[in-house]
Amino acid sequence: MKKKSLRILGIESSCDETAAAVVEDGRVIHSSVIASQVDLHAKFGGVYPELASREHIKVIDTVIQDALQQAYMQLRDLDAIAVTRGPGLAGSLVVGVNTAKAMAMTANLPIIGINHLEGHLYSAWLYEADSKPLMEPKFPLIALLVSGGHSELVLMRGHLNYQHLGGTIDDAAGEAFDKVARLLNLTYPGGPSIQKAAAEGNPSAYNFPKARLSEPWNFSFSGLKTAVLRTVEEIKASNKDVPVADIAASFQAGVVATLFDKTMDAAREFKAAEIIVAGGVSANKALREAFCSQTKYKVHIPAISLCTDNAAMIAGAAYYHLIEGQADELNFDVQPTWPLAEVA
Ligand code: KG4
Ligand code: ZN
Repeated sequence: MKKKSLRILGIESSCDETAAAVVEDGRVIHSSVIASQVDLHAKFGGVYPELASREHIKVIDTVIQDALQQAYMQLRDLDAIAVTRGPGLAGSLVVGVNTAKAMAMTANLPIIGINHLEGHLYSAWLYEADSKPLMEPKFPLIALLVSGGHSELVLMRGHLNYQHLGGTIDDAAGEAFDKVARLLNLTYPGGPSIQKAAAEGNPSAYNFPKARLSEPWNFSFSGLKTAVLRTVEEIKASNKDVPVADIAASFQAGVVATLFDKTMDAAREFKAAEIIVAGGVSANKALREAFCSQTKYKVHIPAISLCTDNAAMIAGAAYYHLIEGQADELNFDVQPTWPLAEVA
């Protein structure tokens, strides 16, 4: 007998995207709706927390209704509600979690609070309902998780099994993109702006230094950022035009080389079968190209729309908890800081 499929409504509001999605069996996306606040925060050059939570409140109901409608489903067609519990901005998380609780209570459905980083990892399992099924990632795998708030190397020996190998000791990779974009007068968010500027530049124009760390699996990007700052200051002091494209391309090449080399070293060291690259920075074209062309490992990188924050990844991760019989009581709280290692 075919096992009953499980459909989960995911809700994500940890930062500046309000999102809802319906995903079946942790893999098949029936809908994924994202309301971005990027334009609202761009004038501040970063996310303004108070504004973010108020914006979530304004749009969350519509986003969820749209996700259900686009999946041709109603609450009674669902098996659970999943919501990002952390890490993220407390005031923003509360909006998603309270909405999810109200829905779970009304529809008498189990609720599952999901770690946002775990969600990013599970974005590698997702594909659209109307597209060809993707190959499922094979364990043991090394996951490189690079977003605005995190840069982590994780060893997964099975589902929901996370061994934190290392992470950034200062700026996250996405944060470095955002900060360097700001000092080059490029718009927020920095990743896409740097990528665009870099397309016109020479990645070998500047040889920015790479951090040497005693811990093999840790990252550091603040030295690279400072080197860019010094270069820009020196050029300005000599009254020359700042070669934005060359600096952007050289910076991007430095970040990509560091991320790629460490991930490959970890894959070899821990005898990984495959690799996952996920999180907002995995939308970066140069990073994707490096992982697609410079290694024989099978590398799973989510579709661009699933790299940055979305709710499909939250519903996807929740499936693996649900089939283990894991759900939360209705009184659980948000967890603004919540390391992935403490999830399982
Ligand atoms: O995963 P995400 O949407 O949110 C967090 O969980 O932080 O990641 C956002 C980060 C931002 O720092 C943004 O600049 C970066 O991802 N990002 C990129 C690109 N698109 C987004 N970085 C490099 N290249 C991109 N194309
Ligand atoms: Zn994220």
